[in-house]
Formats: sequence, C-alpha cells, structure tokens
Amino acid sequence: MLNAVQRLDTARETNCTPEMYEQLYRRSVEDPDGFWLEQAKRLEWVTPPTKGGDWSYDPVGIEWFADGTLNLCHNAVDRHVEAGRGDATALIFEPDDPATPGRSLTYAELRGEVVRMANALKAIGVKRGDRVTIYMPMIVEGVLAMLACARLGAIHSVVFGGFSPEALAGRIEGCASRFVVTADEGLRGSKRVPLKANVDAALAEPDHDTPIDGMLVVRHTGTEVTMTEGRDHWYHELASDEECPCEPMGAEDPLFILYTSGSTGKPKGVVHTTGGYGVWTATTFSYVFDYRPGEVFWCTADIGWITGHSYIAYGPLLNGATQVVFEGVPNYPDHGRFWDVVDKHQVNFLYTAPTAIRALMREGDAFVTSRNRSSLRLLGTVGEPINPEAWRWYFDVVGEKRCPIVDTWWQTETGGVMITTLPNAHDMKPGSAGKPFFGIRPQLVDNDGAVLEGATEGNLCITHSWPGQARTVYGDHERFEQTYFSTYKGKYFTGDGCKRDEDGYYWITGRVDDVINVSGHRMGTAEVESALVSHAKVSEAAVVGYPHDIKGQGIYCYVTLNAGEEGSDALYAELRGHVRKEIGPIASPDHIQFTDGLPKTRSGKIMRRILRKIAENDYGSLGDTSTLADPSLVDRLIEGRQNR
Ligand code: WTA
Repeated sequence: MLNAVQRLDTARETNCTPEMYEQLYRRSVEDPDGFWLEQAKRLEWVTPPTKGGDWSYDPVGIEWFADGTLNLCHNAVDRHVEAGRGDATALIFEPDDPATPGRSLTYAELRGEVVRMANALKAIGVKRGDRVTIYMPMIVEGVLAMLACARLGAIHSVVFGGFSPEALAGRIEGCASRFVVTADEGLRGSKRVPLKANVDAALAEPDHDTPIDGMLVVRHTGTEVTMTEGRDHWYHELASDEECPCEPMGAEDPLFILYTSGSTGKPKGVVHTTGGYGVWTATTFSYVFDYRPGEVFWCTADIGWITGHSYIAYGPLLNGATQVVFEGVPNYPDHGRFWDVVDKHQVNFLYTAPTAIRALMREGDAFVTSRNRSSLRLLGTVGEPINPEAWRWYFDVVGEKRCPIVDTWWQTETGGVMITTLPNAHDMKPGSAGKPFFGIRPQLVDNDGAVLEGATEGNLCITHSWPGQARTVYGDHERFEQTYFSTYKGKYFTGDGCKRDEDGYYWITGRVDDVINVSGHRMGTAEVESALVSHAKVSEAAVVGYPHDIKGQGIYCYVTLNAGEEGSDALYAELRGHVRKEIGPIASPDHIQFTDGLPKTRSGKIMRRILRKIAENDYGSLGDTSTLADPSLVDRLIEGRQNR
C-alpha cells in the first residue's frame, strides 16, 4: 500500500501538464531571477522590480525584488475593481450557526469595506510601520483588518482567537504593538469566546507595559462589553467612506508578523515582507489549486494561522478568486456541516487539515454521502502528515475518486506551499506531499549534516532562497539565524524529518525537534513545560508528543511536584486548567503523569528520547539507559505509564 500511486480517471486540462512542470521547474532553479521576475508580473507594481533574489544564508540576509514598490491591498482588492471585475464575488461569509443569515461581498463591496476599516484604523492613530494586533473571530472583519493594515502600510500581527489572555499579552508585548482590533465575542460551535474581555485581561497583565493607544471593537454577537474611555472604540462608529489611498510600499517592507512556536523559548514573531510574500502566495495559489475564474474556493483554516494568511487573506484575493469565510467548526450543528457548506455555496475546492478529516471519518460515511458534493473538484490538506487511511477516505468517499488531492507541505516560515503534487501534472501517492514547487531545492542530510542522495531518509533542508521565505524574527535577527540556519550551516533547516523515494517524491515524517503538532497546530514542548512549572505545586515538567488517532499528536506531560505535594485527580484537573489558562485550550494536556523524577544524565540533561518512547508505550527500544543518573527510574516511569 505504501508508495501506491493514485491516478485520476478523468483529468481536466490544467494550467500545468507533467511536461510543463519539468520545464518550469528546471527553469526556476537554473534561472531563479528570470523565473521569479516573470512570476512577479502577476502583481501590479507601482515600480516594477528589476532585481530578483539577493540573499545569503551565511550570514543570513534575504531580499527579493528589492527595488520594486507595490501595495498588496491594492493587488488583492482595488486592482480587480479597476479591471472591471468589481461585480465578481470576493467573500461568502458562512456564520457559525447555519440558521443565521450569511453575507456575500463583491470585489467592489470589499473595496468599500476595506476603506471603511482603514479609515477606522487611521482614526485611532494607526500609521505606516505601526504594529496592529488583530484578535478576531473568523468573520469578514478579520480579513478586512488585515487588508486595511496592508493598505496603510501598517504591520499586522494576527493572534489566534483561541489563545488565552496571557498568550495574547506576550504577543502584544513581543512586537510593542500599540493598537488592537478585536470583536465583542467570537462564536465557535455555538460556544461564545469572550474576545474583548480577553484583550482587557491581557492588557491588565502585570508585566504588560506597552501602552495601548487605541482599540477597535467590532460588534458581532452584541453582548455587553466594557469599553475604556479614550482607548476603546466601536468599529462602526469610526468607519467612514472617505477616500483612503493605498500606501506604496517597498517590496522588502514588512507586511506582517506571525508568532509561531519553536523548540526553545517563547514563540517567535516571524516576519514576512510585501513583495516576495505577495508573489509567492499569488503563484502557489494559482498553480497548486489550478483555480479558474468563477470557481469557489474554501480554506477552513483560521486567519490566526499562516494557512489563513496565505490562502484566505492573500493568495485567493490576489488571484481575484471567490472564497468562503467560515466562522464555525466541522461538527456543529452536526458532522455533516462541511458538506452542507459545500452544497450551499457550490464549493469547488476544499482545503483543510488531516485532523478534521480523521475526526469526520470516525463519524461514518453517512454524514458525507447524504450530501450532494458534486461541485467539489479538488481537495487539499495541510498542517501535518496525512495517514494513508485518512487520505483514502478523503479521496474515495469525500471526493468520490473524482477529485485530485493536493497534500501541501509548508510552514509559517515558508510563507506558502513548498512541496506538493500539482493537480493532474503528477500522480498522487497517499501519504506523500509529492514534488518541490518551482524554485524549491530540498535536500536531505544526516544528523552530522552529510548530504544524502537518492531514495533515502533524513532531515529536510532547503538550500536556496525563495520569494516567500520569512526574512527575520521580529527584533531578533540573531535568533532567526540561530534557529533556522545554524544546525546545518548555509542551509535553511525546516525542523522536519523526511523520506525521499525513487520517484523523487517527498514523504514528511514529522518534526525532529522539540516541536509537536497537535491537530495541525504547532506547539513548543518548552512552552507547555513553562506553563506547568509556573504552577505553585509543580517542581519540574517535561513534555513530549505521542501518536494520537485524531489529533495526530497528543500532549504527554511528566510532572514532578514540590515536596509535600501529592499527585491526585484534583491536581490533574487543576494543572490542565492551568495550562489552558496560560496558553489556551489547544495546549490542553492529554496525559499528565506524576513522577518522582525525570530521567536525566549525570550532567543533568533530561533524556527526552526515553520519555517519548514511554509515552508511545514503546518499551522495547528505550536504547541505552546506562548513562542515566538513576537508571531505576525508568521502571517506575513505565509502571506509571501503564497505570494511566
Ligand atoms: C507540518 C502550517 C506533513 C510540518 C502550514 C511543518 C506537514 C509544520 C504538512 C508547520 C504536510 C505542514 N505534511 N507535515 N502536508 N504541512 N506540516 O508553521 O511538521 O503551522 O514543519 O505551518 O507542520 O506548521 P505551521
């Protein structure tokens, strides 16, 4: 079954045949500047660039199209109106509760709404270069806020609405953002998320010392919220229709900051710039989905993650596409909701995460087959490896063997899709992302950095820069160099393990660092550990990932308690609650094991390899435990695991 090739019986003519892929790929690596300057013409520039890439990985400095100027809001919105496509539908809003009315905006209407949002931002004092934190539900105004920042040349920093006030505070502080856009409440599966109250709590955090100059609050559910005089403003009171021109930006001016987890320390504010990111998202969207005018695209991600940035806010709109913006969740009001939305809006493309597919698969086929779904033309996945069983179900049941699947591998730092098959240009292999996108030069290396050739398995690096690559970590370029370019000098290291087969297909095996992927959400084990040890009763904590049927990986925590404390069900619940409060519900531990010690070497280093194996219930291959300071601890840990 592994390495099985899946071909489609009925292939439509696409924008990329197998021959074209080979030809374009060759050109993209032989003459990257020529290739990318040509792709850059997908965008409308104020000053078209004459320079392609100018980059080095040692020391690290990356620029693309540096002498070009443009505005991405103009490209995503105004440009289509000016070209006579103002009547085309841009956004179709599908609310959390299917019984409440949705909303649909043409490009002309979208332009009007973006101008109103930009004017409201201006009214609270936002100017070019300012950082604006966006903490929003999945409603149209979230996308508007991002585009309005781009219009003014302000840098958006979207924080996922599921993060706790503590996590939000760290992200506001991290980029010294003095402006916030939020809503009264969000809705997810009929549950209310108190967004405005969370912002208030974040700003009241004792170590929060960046003063907030202004906050815009979008009225969504209409619940009562506390407004601080002089600081908080209702969006609808400040929105106005005055002309608000797009600010011409340098290609290398930052477009946004997005916080993401790494193997150490606090989340990093990854910086993407205007020109390269714009070209990358526009080009990848066009080739990977093979979108045609009039078709309806739907990416189920949240704008709080990179997928929502690249394939909701930017990629589709830069291509003038029509797309669904969905506020809800796959299982509300029932497990057929995705397919109801597909039928209601005649969705042609569905782009979602393996965790959602696995969760829906578990509920049985009837929820799917009872809906029509004949509009579907292409299916996509992103965020984590997809197991072949889930792939098959997606292909056979959801897509009725008609729809190609693109399994797209990429990262917050890469800006857009890096490895994928292209619809109809490549055969698919369930579980394999496929081939490198244009300009991408993957390399597999062993732990010592030796390059591995042919069919092999190793650590995935990328040897050459591409336009969509992140440029730095906000305010900490050294950390950027250290994190991505120091493990294997002169290469970008992805943190992922990967196999390459004899056909040159890439199979991502998952993270090889201390990052775990829970339901497609990236999480640093160090973040969960630091949340746990901030609890008064906890002495030490070590967190590892372990295989989880639905989530891909679950969060397994080993905890030692302070002298005099006893592990109990009550404390277990208390610690779970504590982690949720510190980070958010997505970081809820799946298992907490109380232990009298952590396996450490004599020099005090925690041997995570052993903890991972025990969490996986894999005791046969614990490896050498003789270097442990207390080898007898291993048996106690195993016993504790079995009792959980
Ligand atoms: C994982 C999400 C296997 C990978 C766009 C990567 C995947 C991390 C895939 C980035 C895929 C993403 N197959 N693994 N198709 N897509 N990953 O930054 O481990 O939230 O390093 O970006 O997700 O997660 P991030």
